[in-house]
Amino acid sequence: MKVYLETMGCQMNRLDSELVTDSLLAAGHEMIDNRPDADVVLYNTCSVRQHAEEKVYSRLGGDTRRKAHHKPRQILGVLGCMAQREGAELTNRFNGLNIVCAPGQLSRLPELIAAAAEGNRVVALDASRIEASRDAKSSSADSASADEVAFDAMDLARNYNHASPRTQAYVRVMKGCDNFCTYCIVPFVRGPERSRRPERILQEVSHLVEAGVSQVTLLGQTVNRYRFSDNAQTTRFSDLLAEVSDVPGLRRLRFVTSHPLDFTDDILHVMAERENICEYIHVPPQSGSDEVLRRMNRKYTRAQYDNLVDQAREIVPGVVLAGDFIVGFPGETEADHETSAELIRRSGFKNSFVFKYSPRPGTAAARTMLDDVPDEVKRRRNHELLAVQNEVGLAHHQSYIGETIEVLVEGPSVRADRQGFEPTPERTQLASRSRGEHIVHFIGPEKLTGQYVNVHITGATALGLQGDRQPGEE
Ligand code: 5AD
Ligand code: SF4
Repeated sequence: MKVYLETMGCQMNRLDSELVTDSLLAAGHEMIDNRPDADVVLYNTCSVRQHAEEKVYSRLGGDTRRKAHHKPRQILGVLGCMAQREGAELTNRFNGLNIVCAPGQLSRLPELIAAAAEGNRVVALDASRIEASRDAKSSSADSASADEVAFDAMDLARNYNHASPRTQAYVRVMKGCDNFCTYCIVPFVRGPERSRRPERILQEVSHLVEAGVSQVTLLGQTVNRYRFSDNAQTTRFSDLLAEVSDVPGLRRLRFVTSHPLDFTDDILHVMAERENICEYIHVPPQSGSDEVLRRMNRKYTRAQYDNLVDQAREIVPGVVLAGDFIVGFPGETEADHETSAELIRRSGFKNSFVFKYSPRPGTAAARTMLDDVPDEVKRRRNHELLAVQNEVGLAHHQSYIGETIEVLVEGPSVRADRQGFEPTPERTQLASRSRGEHIVHFIGPEKLTGQYVNVHITGATALGLQGDRQPGEE
């Protein structure tokens, strides 16, 4: 069958979609880019904010109408976080919807598509966590009995041949989250926190490198909380980083996303010691105010966050930091908001993602706190934090002017008609990434895509760098 798969949300979803694609191709399906022509339309969805969910509702509304009139046999499926959050409710709301598949059930997708083709409606969900969390009985130990093989079956079934034209790949090191930040839906939809066996991660990285990948990004909702115990042996995140960095041929090792609480010095030291671990840390503060952090259940104080930034700058030379913030969390005052702006300035972030608080059904904040910051105030605070971030980001990027840095070329960056000159294969605007995750634009031949080159930095904006290829480099 012809399958259209659209991915929303975070890197974890992108990886899931990639693995799903492998399994569908292995099952004999074909992937296509054109939604109306597809026999199967799938959305891999995100529940982190309401806005992301509304986009899927609107897509499904159009799809189910088109299906009713023109494509009665088309199979429609919702995968990922929204599938787990809403479950069978989705099929009640959208009559033409055939498949609802939670993140932990994705390895069953080929089988679910076959069942849907037989005319069945299939809803495959992970064990619910809502009740367990209300009793505060939610630690990963509860799920230790779950089948360890099924846990990373999809990761292990990865098709390495597809990796060959690529330079960069994601590798999952853990699943789920046990932190229960009060605003966050992730612990409910992605389930309990569980770390993968280190040997399996190493095997996956080695296979990817053999297939031509030279930059690996380790993924986890709170990646630095990775911890695997086997008999007397415990592998901490810093141990894992060291082991993965030893894989021969791995040129760049990255990881996202980190939780400030678990960012211990051992991790910083491994980063400093290992040449191939990139000096970039995405470590979301969410707020600069102790009072807000407490209500968010972030489990660290502002002083602890500041200390982490200081330690990172001291231990890891040239470290690049990035953050996330939520504005308009219940009860956030103007003074609280000011502390977030001040935190951006103090931390010198390269960039920050700023989100307006969006109450997620079932979370502690949605159940027990009034969403009392009006939307126009959230919007203003959002703009204000971004304006501060832009200033800080510009200064950060300007500090690289005159330096020569190594970048990995991602490909042509803008449409030909926007380049201001007639691009040719030999001369086009390329987008690339530094070790510090800076976006670097320069002009060069398209064939550099997937390669590492040195770029002399000549200009900076709040969001990125421009430069010239080092003269004489091929
Ligand atoms: N409302 C707004 N932003 C949220 N995030 C997570 N949950 C919510 C929510 N309910 C943001 C956090 C997180 C990022 C992935 O999304 O900043 O770091
Ligand atoms: Fe959500 Fe907090 Fe877990 Fe991150 S650490 S996924 S914000 S609950």
